[in-house]
Amino acid sequence: MKKKILIVGAVGQIGSELTLKMREIYGGSNVIASTRKTPPSEAVLNGGPFEYFDVRDRAALGAVCDKYGVTHIVNMAAILSAAGEKDPLLAWDINMNGLINILELAREKKMQQVLVPSSIAVFGPETPRENTPQETVLRPTTMYGITKVAGELLGDYYVRKFGLDVRGLRYPGIISHETLPGGGTTDYAVAIFYEAIQNKRYTCFLKENTRLPMMYMPDCLKATIDLMEADFSKLKHHSDFNVSAMSFTPGELAAEIKKHIRDFTIEYQPDFRQAIADSWPDSIDDSAAREEWGWKPSYDLAAMTKDMIENLKKKLLK
Ligand code: SER
Repeated sequence: MKKKILIVGAVGQIGSELTLKMREIYGGSNVIASTRKTPPSEAVLNGGPFEYFDVRDRAALGAVCDKYGVTHIVNMAAILSAAGEKDPLLAWDINMNGLINILELAREKKMQQVLVPSSIAVFGPETPRENTPQETVLRPTTMYGITKVAGELLGDYYVRKFGLDVRGLRYPGIISHETLPGGGTTDYAVAIFYEAIQNKRYTCFLKENTRLPMMYMPDCLKATIDLMEADFSKLKHHSDFNVSAMSFTPGELAAEIKKHIRDFTIEYQPDFRQAIADSWPDSIDDSAAREEWGWKPSYDLAAMTKDMIENLKKKLLK
């Protein structure tokens, strides 16, 4: 059956690249990009349909779904961990009311599928930190994490109760060179590259030895699309797949960058985001994703760093 995919939050770090990738695969006119207010890049704007609406407005969301005959919704709209601690009620409002609107519309209109990403932010200080299992303690300390746990439970509820096909994966920190991330605790792992190339120095808001799970954008896009394409009957999990690619500390990332930019220096001035990072795992066990839909990452720290520097040099040093 023909797919008409609506990407909500298509101007953000992941949404913008996912839009371009999905248009390549499914055709420009079959992927509708949308956002609340931030204008899109030329590439996103010109490659297919684009709509402005607020996901908290169910009527507006419904009108866009009707206009294009949407069959799949991908919900990339979220207030992330650090931004969510500055405005917890906004994080609740957008993350939860946006999601319930999407799930309800998809149920009413008998859509084929909803993809709702989750995050390593669902874990908390009581979660086993190393090789964090698929099934484990979910007691996050951030509002973002709370909304993501609730989102996973809600997604699985819609699968069980209404037979709606809802899927989701727990993204680690995502590293990319097209669109900057905004409001996350893992954002340092992108900012460090911009600063290394432009100024050869970076002040990190996390401590040198803070290990976090991370993933390069090509793997993130692949994980997202592979999960969406997976055979539903083979899935035992639905809204909460652990996915893993690499784990590193700011110190290890800086050392890897120094292999390419010898005079790069880093200093550490931890802020409120340190406590968030300290509540998250070091590394993730993603065997359920590997077994149920064949997940396998391609980029490790060395390959990601090399590719990031090559691409950002082209972009920043014109
Ligand atoms: N990158 C996100 C954050 O830092 C984690 O999902 O909030």
